[in-house]
Amino acid sequence: MNIDELKSVAKGLVSKGKGILAADESSGTIKKRFDSINVESKEENRRSYRELLFTTPGAEEFISGVILFDETIRQATQDGTSLPKVLEQSGIIPGIKVDAGAKDLAGFPGEKITEGLDGLRERLAEYRNLGARFAKWRAVITIGAGSPSQFCIDANSHALARYAALCHEAGLVPIVEPEVLMDGDHTIERCEEVTTATLKSVFSELKNHRVELEGILLKPNMVLSGKECAVQAGVDAVAEATIRCFRQTVPEEMPGIVFLSGGQSPQEATEHLNAMNALGSHPWELSFSYGRALQEPVLKAWMGQSANVTKAQETFYHRAKCNGAARHGNYSPTMEKIAA
Ligand code: 13P
Repeated sequence: MNIDELKSVAKGLVSKGKGILAADESSGTIKKRFDSINVESKEENRRSYRELLFTTPGAEEFISGVILFDETIRQATQDGTSLPKVLEQSGIIPGIKVDAGAKDLAGFPGEKITEGLDGLRERLAEYRNLGARFAKWRAVITIGAGSPSQFCIDANSHALARYAALCHEAGLVPIVEPEVLMDGDHTIERCEEVTTATLKSVFSELKNHRVELEGILLKPNMVLSGKECAVQAGVDAVAEATIRCFRQTVPEEMPGIVFLSGGQSPQEATEHLNAMNALGSHPWELSFSYGRALQEPVLKAWMGQSANVTKAQETFYHRAKCNGAARHGNYSPTMEKIAA
């Protein structure tokens, strides 16, 4: 491990005005996304959709890195350039999802544990050879009656820390993603409580595993009201609760926080990020690593038709630009009208 190289990749991923595109949907998840626009999830469709995203003119102005899925890192554009190479050529850092998904945690009904540690050392070495410079592992924490248990939080934190240590050994920047789901009718206060407990556990395990925090990025949920909660916290309340939570739990030496969107609408995800950055300066860069919030409108513009590629790329460029502005509190909803 060369820690200076890791630090420089981590910093590059959260450089000014830029964030990450999460395009690492597993086979099951991309099928759901394609089902929503009536496109068959076959390899050629997945390949051409990812090519559309990665070759969007100007995307590199606002996109620092892209998280790929195992299939995608091995695919190529129509003219034969490998997809990680295409990203690299426009100055975008290729990354890779390396977890094997969240499975039921035995003995804890309704709770999940992320699998994928077996053989991970060898897989990381292969991904680095294929061009990846960073990785992602997502843990899922569910809020419900009597959950999450501290056991589930700690088991997931332990796995995240083992993954992060292996990434450093392999020369990859680990994105550590503990996602507290927004599903449910819980209040924003409950989300703050669970997110605080989760982040405390994550950073404690990272310390136990001797992971150097300057070489990692955190990918958390924002502190939000549950989707079905009758009272929905406004943009400013979300920004304040999220920052308050992080100030108590996230060490200052961590270079950046790259939020997931988690089911927020694209505009909400942008407004929340913008409000946090507008609150003033923070010890870490506050950026995005959105999947759905960057891609939902792009999928709708594309609809699987090659005639729509340019329109879909313009849509992607616009969303990336709005989030780029939100990196510094410079976004305004009028940016949406201008584009429309
Ligand atoms: P969403 O932004 O759609 O939540 O996806 C981000 C991600 O990478 C989930 O692991």
